[in-house]
Amino acid sequence: MNVLVTAGPTREPIDPVRFVSNRSTGKMGFAVAQAAAEAGHAVTLIAGPVTLDTPPGVRRVDVTTALEMLAAVERELPACDVFVSAAAVADWRPETCSPTKLKKGEMDGVLRLVRNPDILKTILPRKGTRVFVGFAAETGEPTAEAGRKLHEKGLDLIVANDVTAPGAGFAVETNRVTLLFPDGRHEALPLLRKTEVARRLVATFATLGR
Ligand code: CTP
Repeated sequence: MNVLVTAGPTREPIDPVRFVSNRSTGKMGFAVAQAAAEAGHAVTLIAGPVTLDTPPGVRRVDVTTALEMLAAVERELPACDVFVSAAAVADWRPETCSPTKLKKGEMDGVLRLVRNPDILKTILPRKGTRVFVGFAAETGEPTAEAGRKLHEKGLDLIVANDVTAPGAGFAVETNRVTLLFPDGRHEALPLLRKTEVARRLVATFATLGR
């Protein structure tokens, strides 16, 4: 199958030296891309700004902002059978980006933000027969929120995790996740390396595909 994966944060510029972003390091999404390639799928990885090496055999497209990520997803979507949206897309961006470094005297302590598009919701009308997989990073018990996002975003599978739980979340090698399906089925996985979570996820979405 042709598998499209997004990974990492997006970075929303304030000026040439400052930005708004989040703590995603891209580990989980890169692990999914690697596991999918190792399973024999053709993988395209759209990566936000991260410091990870491209997994062998994976075609990588680098982006910075949420708008650039959306444009890349829209370009790559027609060729994919499975879309895994693992990126931590910034929900807001500064209303304006100064072309020159803002001097502190020019700033009044208020940063005006505007909403970024929701990538999954934007492309949902073009889903067709594709399998869509999302992630829900929550603080606290994640399954209720993840269930809401699964339905709102038209997903076939959502990977829920509590990013504040021991061994889970950002910049660590392990994760504890629950897989949720549209029919209400839940599968709670034990604490595993992100590479192993990724392998199980690839095995699971392969069964949902054509
Ligand atoms: N996502 C997306 N576009 C966005 C934000 C999120 O496509 N602008 C995707 C993520 O890649 C993930 C899923 O939506 O697969 C859930 O992301 P999450 O940040 O957990 O949720 P939000 O939709 O941002 O909702 P909330 O802010 O209410 O938690």
